[in-house]
Amino acid sequence: MKNKIKIRKANEYDISELNNLNSKSFEELTKKLNFSKFVGNSNYRIIIASQKKDIVGYLLTLKIASNLHEIISIAVDSSHKREGVASLLLSEFLVSKKVNSKIILEVANKNRVAIKLYKAFLFDIDGIRKDYYKNPPDDALLMSKII
Ligand SMILES: CC(C)(COP(=O)(O)OP(=O)(O)OC[C@H]1O[C@@H](n2cnc3c(N)ncnc32)[C@H](O)[C@@H]1OP(=O)(O)O)[C@@H](O)C(=O)NCCC(=O)NCCS
Repeated sequence: MKNKIKIRKANEYDISELNNLNSKSFEELTKKLNFSKFVGNSNYRIIIASQKKDIVGYLLTLKIASNLHEIISIAVDSSHKREGVASLLLSEFLVSKKVNSKIILEVANKNRVAIKLYKAFLFDIDGIRKDYYKNPPDDALLMSKII
């Protein structure tokens, strides 16, 4: 990382930049999100990695129960990939969770980079949902980790 990356919570002024980064990062239609639904909703948490004024990555999670959380989306800007930004976001999120919390997620089977990232954080594969994604078609891997 050439310049220092800062981690902070998202606010309403981040919505359009988050929508842009999300839209650039995913082909699959169901992975394209409108962050105005999540900012200000206490069930969701958005952690941002920023460099100077730019958002270089985000992590969006949903609190399902006090000890059950879902990773809804994570993305890093292409000019900052492989610099440890996603790892920083995931670490920040995981350390904030209580012991015995379960973290679940679903990832496209073809997304080998993301699967490698989650495996590096010791997520296990729990199952597969055949033909879960439609555009482009793919299976979904269900992964989880207990802290
Ligand atoms: C997946 C993604 C978030 C990773 O972000 P990143 O900041 O580049 O990841 P990091 O630099 O923290 O990498 C952490 C680990 O992930 C794996 N990884 C990340 N990018 C990789 C690549 N291009 N090839 C192979 N492994 C990779 C490696 O294990 C890496 O550890 P290492 O660098 O020590 O080998 C990023 O590629 C992205 O935004 N992809 C598009 C959106 C997406 O698919 N999100 C996941 C949806 S579920």
